Amino acid sequence: MKKYLVIGNPIEHSLSPKLHNYWFKKNNINASYDKKKIEKSEIQEIVSEIKNNKLDGLNVTVPFKSDVIPFLDELSEESKITQSVNTIYMHDKKLIGHNTDIKGFELSLKETQFELKNKSIFILGAGGVVPSIIYALEKLKVLKIIISNRTKQKAENLKRNFSKINVVDWGDRPEFDIIINATSLGLSNEDNLGLNFKNINKEKLFYDVIYNPKETNFLRTGKKLGCKVFNGKMMFIYQALEAFKLWHKVQPEINEDLINFLDA
Ligand code: ATR
Repeated sequence: MKKYLVIGNPIEHSLSPKLHNYWFKKNNINASYDKKKIEKSEIQEIVSEIKNNKLDGLNVTVPFKSDVIPFLDELSEESKITQSVNTIYMHDKKLIGHNTDIKGFELSLKETQFELKNKSIFILGAGGVVPSIIYALEKLKVLKIIISNRTKQKAENLKRNFSKINVVDWGDRPEFDIIINATSLGLSNEDNLGLNFKNINKEKLFYDVIYNPKETNFLRTGKKLGCKVFNGKMMFIYQALEAFKLWHKVQPEINEDLINFLDA
């Protein structure tokens, strides 16, 4: 039986085992997928278990997506530029790190059916997932990407790899067509971004990377303004789908049943 694992800290909230095990059943794949809370000092040993055939693949989540990089033999182009790895597999006796968050974000954004041409995107946050979002948006050739982060220097640092982004002060709210919350503000129901959304027309998209809770205050604000809103659920599902395809060479199905199953 093949064995897969997602590592992170915290990890209790992760729905990855539920999703991958569901797809194993549906596709008659003899494998199991677990989650493990680890400390940074344990990364090397766990990653080496893939080389020793004790594990067949790993997903990596917050806060270790960069920390795993020194223990891998090769990185995909996407992982190199974003310095972020969420999926690890063996290929030709080499440990490869890949980033499926990019494709996950891209596919989820497509699903919103929001027109991207000539659009300005305002991203809140500069944490682990933001390079993947910027990478996807640049690939999609949006007009402008603006970043705001409480710790401004972290947003400025993103310019090293993404020279075309614009950085504004935390609390500023520039003109935008799509606003993306990539901060952890919203995980608690009382969290508020404290931005001024007065005089916003309803032609905007509010996208929250958070999917639990389903509707953050940020998305509620967007809804009240009459804007389109979208949470991080589909991004989560699509990043898992891309990892599943890499590991099993099978395209798993995403349908209403699966989405309800994850909600239950
Ligand atoms: P990391 O920053 O370690 O990569 P993350 O969960 O990927 O962690 O990112 C958390 C994001 O939420 C960061 O952009 C963080 O802003 P800082 O860089 O200033 O820490 C943001 N964030 C978390 N709590 C916040 C708060 N109370 N107000 C504003 N932004 C917050």
